[in-house]
Amino acid sequence: MIVVLRLGHRPQRDMRVTTHVGLTARALGASGMYIAADDRGVVESIRDVADRFGGDFFVEDKKGWSSCIRRWKEDGGCVVHLTMFGLNLPDVEEEIREKEKILVVVGAEKVPGEVYERADYNVAVTNQPHSEIAGLAVFLDHIAPDALHRDFPGAKVKVLPNPCGKTVEEF
Ligand SMILES: C[S@@+](CC[C@H](N)C(=O)[O-])C[C@H]1O[C@@H](n2cnc3c(N)ncnc32)[C@H](O)[C@@H]1O
Repeated sequence: MIVVLRLGHRPQRDMRVTTHVGLTARALGASGMYIAADDRGVVESIRDVADRFGGDFFVEDKKGWSSCIRRWKEDGGCVVHLTMFGLNLPDVEEEIREKEKILVVVGAEKVPGEVYERADYNVAVTNQPHSEIAGLAVFLDHIAPDALHRDFPGAKVKVLPNPCGKTVEEF
């Protein structure tokens, strides 16, 4: 089970990026996302996609990041913080793939130093600066089983692969 914890979300300013963090998490095999901020709009837009496109992805806002990390670790979960300053993904991915419960922490603005200390792994997707969406996508592609071939049961809308044009089924 992989769940994302989104830190440092600034309502209004980060709305689009946080929504895309959630949609990326869902599409590439995470089970849900916690947002350490209060933003009903983001929660509703992700839930709307999950409702139409299927699966059972959950999203919860107003989560205290510190208690979220503490509880995750008390339940035996592993905490992976994505940061350009960490160990490069190829050097730790084999070990991380063996974990049953992974909380993937991604930031927006500056991430508190305590997160680096409490994470089991600080992982870089290259040691170059880029974005939480890109970092999460590559991480899930390497860690989530079958990230690119997920099933989304109960979908009301399904897009079928089409080499040219759009094929959409509605149920
Ligand atoms: C735009 S960055 C801002 C980071 C902020 N300046 C800091 O020093 O913490 C937002 C988030 O993207 C993710 N990120 C950016 N580059 C990354 C990289 N090379 N590897 C992994 N995650 C990365 C991290 O989760 C980071 O918190």
